[in-house]
Amino acid sequence: MQLRALGNSNIQASVIAFGAWAIGGWKWGGTDATAAVNAIDAAIGADINFIDTAAVYGFGVSEEIVGKAIQKHARDKLIIATKCGLRWDMESKHLHAESEGKRIFRTLAADSIQWELEQSLRRLNTDYIDLYQTHWPDPHAMQDDVMETLIKLKKAGKIRAIGLCNASTDDISTACATGQLDVDQERYSLLDQERAQDNLPLCKSNKLAFLAYSPMAQGLLTDKLDTSRQYGEGDLRIDNPRFSKQNIATISKLLEPVKALAADRSLTLEQVVLAWTLQQPGLSHVLVGARTAEQAINNAKAGSVILSAEELQLITSAANQWQGFV
Ligand SMILES: NC(=O)c1ccc[n+]([C@@H]2O[C@H](COP(=O)([O-])OP(=O)(O)OC[C@H]3O[C@@H](n4cnc5c(N)ncnc54)[C@H](OP(=O)(O)O)[C@@H]3O)[C@@H](O)[C@H]2O)c1
Repeated sequence: MQLRALGNSNIQASVIAFGAWAIGGWKWGGTDATAAVNAIDAAIGADINFIDTAAVYGFGVSEEIVGKAIQKHARDKLIIATKCGLRWDMESKHLHAESEGKRIFRTLAADSIQWELEQSLRRLNTDYIDLYQTHWPDPHAMQDDVMETLIKLKKAGKIRAIGLCNASTDDISTACATGQLDVDQERYSLLDQERAQDNLPLCKSNKLAFLAYSPMAQGLLTDKLDTSRQYGEGDLRIDNPRFSKQNIATISKLLEPVKALAADRSLTLEQVVLAWTLQQPGLSHVLVGARTAEQAINNAKAGSVILSAEELQLITSAANQWQGFV
């Protein structure tokens, strides 16, 4: 498993991270806590040391599951990342979403961040967070004030590194001018390369880690891609236009040469897709959602795959045929 630094921090994190959104259940049709703990155990056993969760995933459930799973492992060998800024227990000026009978609000006010951090520490059953990230920008908070709050938490020893998610380039520049920012976390996959022209080069020039979320496009870039697949109740993929029959047919076709390459290399499609993503200039880590031990082990193996220039080009040519979701 390759390790790479989280930006300017001295934290070395596995290039494949265990993404813990789906194991929280919310938006993914529920959770099986035992299978989730086993999946995290299997990931750690396969040399993944990096786990990414968030307070809002399952409204605390994901953090609790991660907290349970990590108890049997040495804490100082793990890199635990979580996020703040989405509250479902109070109201702010900015409604982020309504889901499953809950209203989720954005806030990055100083007292809210401090309160959220204490809740995350309790649920994760730990006394520090390795990487603390703002989940979405709060239009009512100044980026330099948010950064000052995070810097105070770092000085207090409660967090080790600071990250932003879903950030504008202005937010990143302001945060860098205020103090040590280490990470930007954005959606990025073979099908979702919007950040390739703005955030990714900015991270590269500021030596920030760029963490790619949803690198398998939530299942569209896996072997399970199939128009007849039925998703369970509460799964975000039901009725999602990205999962339309037309999109699936186009993606299946463009993945044909990638599948052939995977077969030639005795790798899985998922491993080749993740390895290609990890070899994009400036992109440092992929956060991959998994709910079973089998998936976690499969994904972890991508962390030691190196693709040749010709192999990268073959996949890039396939990606270049993608005209976007219809
Ligand atoms: N900062 C943010 O705003 C943000 C937003 C989204 C995600 N994230 C982070 O990124 C992580 C990953 O993103 P994501 O979960 O949205 O998408 P993803 O990693 O692209 O896709 C995850 C889904 O792909 C399927 N899968 C995983 N491994 C597989 C394998 N080896 N073979 C076949 N199918 C496999 C699983 O779905 P099924 O088993 O159900 O098919 C899994 O739930 C999240 O957990 C979270 O940590 C952050």
